[in-house]
Amino acid sequence: MSEASVAAPKVTGLESLEFGAARIRVDDKKIINCFADLNQLVPFKYEWAWDKYLKACANHWMPNEINMSADIALWKSPNGLTADEREIIERNLGFFATADSLVANNLVLAVYRHITNPECRQYLLRQAFEEALHTHAYQHVIMSLGMDEARVFNMYREIPSVAKKAAWALNYTQSLTDPNFSTGTLENDQRLLRDLIAFYVVFEGLFFYVGFTQVLSMGRRNKMIGTSEQFQYILRDESMHLNFGIDVINQIKFENPHLWTQAFQTEIITMIKTGVELEYQYAIDTMPRGILGLNAAMFKDYLQFIANRRLIQIGLSEQFPGVTNPFPWMSEMMDLKKEKNFFETRVTEYQTGGTLSWEEEEEAV
Ligand SMILES: [Fe+2]
Ligand SMILES: [Fe+2]
Repeated sequence: MSEASVAAPKVTGLESLEFGAARIRVDDKKIINCFADLNQLVPFKYEWAWDKYLKACANHWMPNEINMSADIALWKSPNGLTADEREIIERNLGFFATADSLVANNLVLAVYRHITNPECRQYLLRQAFEEALHTHAYQHVIMSLGMDEARVFNMYREIPSVAKKAAWALNYTQSLTDPNFSTGTLENDQRLLRDLIAFYVVFEGLFFYVGFTQVLSMGRRNKMIGTSEQFQYILRDESMHLNFGIDVINQIKFENPHLWTQAFQTEIITMIKTGVELEYQYAIDTMPRGILGLNAAMFKDYLQFIANRRLIQIGLSEQFPGVTNPFPWMSEMMDLKKEKNFFETRVTEYQTGGTLSWEEEEEAV
């Protein structure tokens, strides 16, 4: 019998009601392996999770609000884009069209039930919805440009550099899909932590960045500006997903220091290095020749620079000393303080403060 099947079942929030049970105390709350009632949001223990939930809601957007008409004209014009530029758009839509479904499925079917904290779950529910919006955004672009949908959505089963990234991530979520899997043992808690690092730090934290940079570069050159704007909104959401994931990972480490063994740390460093290599292969594959002022060698530096930051963020040491960021403008794009400019091109505004009356809410829809 595997260790997975003998670990004690944990609280899910769907247990039979315990009438007359004592009120919960903040000290009862734990991020994993908690036995306190999961249906009671307050008292808050992890304010950072609640704050991110509120910020994410304040950043609400919808893909169909972004004007795609300039992109449609450019895409359909015979001399609008070079073959290499078209390839970059298609390949990235191919990767992302299924990548965000994969992230959502991992969140909902693998991670959610093992995060035993209501304020974190509140953020996870918001994140899951945002992943649905991202898939919607990619579908909206693919449909607007009149691409062959079946071909683009199937790229992760046809294009090796796309397939390799998805297949790599699936290994980590699949380790949690055993219906008898439960946290509560060293091995299983490490499995959950490994999955979180694989998805938040590598998949959302590295595997998205060649594509984001390529498409946003195009927008900076006034090409495919609607698609680029969709990607900007997505990047803003993703940078919050990443920050939330890092907070969760660090909180689990803090509450369970025995999980962070030397062998585990070595494994995580190897995992992140493999992620850098896979994403670099994707960069070479999507841009065999330099275009838009970018080339594959710059992406090697960029990915190593990002990997160093990710490693430090989860308490590991830099593995690529001395690399610098060839795309400092990407950091500016991610800066949440730029919200004001960000909203200038919106078709409708969401009210993010005050009370909405029913009438106003209906108008906003
Ligand atoms: Fe996403
Ligand atoms: Fe995400």
